[in-house]
Amino acid sequence: MNAFGSLVYDSSVTRAWMPAGCPLGPWPEAVCVRLDDLPCEPNVLADLILSPAEREHWESMRGVEKRRHEWLLGRCVAKAAVRSLIARNSDMCLSPTGIEIVPDPYGRPLVRAATVMQRLQPALSIAHSHGSAVALAVLDPEARVGIDLESLAHRREDFEAIAFSPDERSLLTALPPDLRQEWALRMWCAKEAVGKALGRGLSAGLLAFHIAHVENASGIVEVELRDGALAHFPGFRGKPLIVYTARESNFVFSAIIYQQGAVRMRPSRQEILEYLLHKMGELTQDWDYPDPVRPESRLFTELGFESLDAVVLCTAIQEHYQTPMPFAELLAEIGQQQRDLSIDELADFVNTHLGGSAGADAVRRVQ
Ligand SMILES: CC(C)(COP(=O)(O)OP(=O)(O)OC[C@H]1O[C@@H](n2cnc3c(N)ncnc32)[C@H](O)[C@@H]1OP(=O)(O)O)[C@@H](O)C(=O)NCCC(=O)NCCS
Repeated sequence: MNAFGSLVYDSSVTRAWMPAGCPLGPWPEAVCVRLDDLPCEPNVLADLILSPAEREHWESMRGVEKRRHEWLLGRCVAKAAVRSLIARNSDMCLSPTGIEIVPDPYGRPLVRAATVMQRLQPALSIAHSHGSAVALAVLDPEARVGIDLESLAHRREDFEAIAFSPDERSLLTALPPDLRQEWALRMWCAKEAVGKALGRGLSAGLLAFHIAHVENASGIVEVELRDGALAHFPGFRGKPLIVYTARESNFVFSAIIYQQGAVRMRPSRQEILEYLLHKMGELTQDWDYPDPVRPESRLFTELGFESLDAVVLCTAIQEHYQTPMPFAELLAEIGQQQRDLSIDELADFVNTHLGGSAGADAVRRVQ
């Protein structure tokens, strides 16, 4: 690649990005890249980044220039995300032309890279809107990844009537009126992200992706599959999908990475412990502990947790693993019996409820 080609992939052009307020926290291993304009003349960019087959597709694309440019912009961010993901997880530096993004029969983007080994296969999602594009990639080919981006400036006021059921509109009515337009778009983006993550888009119909719950503070939107979508994905009956949404200036963004379905992605106990230590570090970063948080650290007597802190931690764990766990019972038991809980023991509990072998002492008395 020449110097101009490197510039295209300079991080100041394709920036790794997460909008303010939208945590990549649940997915620290994912890469998200955004670009707000074509970095150079389209045919020059096409030469720099497209594989021969993609180049052929680019040449053959008919229709409006806007669509061609968005497609190219999408390839640009997607390749940047994949390259960054692979570089982060190996010593390989792939050239953009060596990464091919191929749509499956439903349009879902699949990554093909000759030099990428089996263990480095990413799952990818792309979105573009009004001259901006984003891509989200995670190193797990079985993961269901969905991202969407929409511009608030270009939204018709009356789209709610078509996009949402009366129940969904009542969620909007319950929000402060000045947030209604933004939240309508967040809910729309959440539907699109789920449609992309499941790989069929919204072809099952807009109401097959039912917005069951929204949280203004966290930006979380819960999407339940209804008839139409459930016919293809019966495993999601009664299991809402958690989508993160955020607003950044005039754009609303949504993202989901769903990994539970992938059997091989069941985390090892060690991975659970590492996640818990990482999460604890995040939650308590301003708490001024003299010593680092360790697996043996106990939540209440040692780390100074209060009940609300425990609830926040348990909620984060459930969201991270997209699996409900009987934390309410665990916390009630601890309270009643004046137990404390070490991070190690919490890892046993989570491991057990994610289907791992029960630790010898999943939750044992420590005081
Ligand atoms: C997939 C879909 C949600 C995309 O939404 P959109 O607003 O048109 O476009 P976005 O910019 O948000 O996303 C476009 C990207 O989604 C991805 N995509 C397309 N189909 C996909 C699918 N089935 N699964 C996952 N991702 C898909 C593609 O990467 C596409 O970009 P590209 O063509 O440049 O590679 C939408 O087109 C859809 O639902 N299609 C199904 C067909 C349909 O019936 N639509 C009518 C519903 S109103």
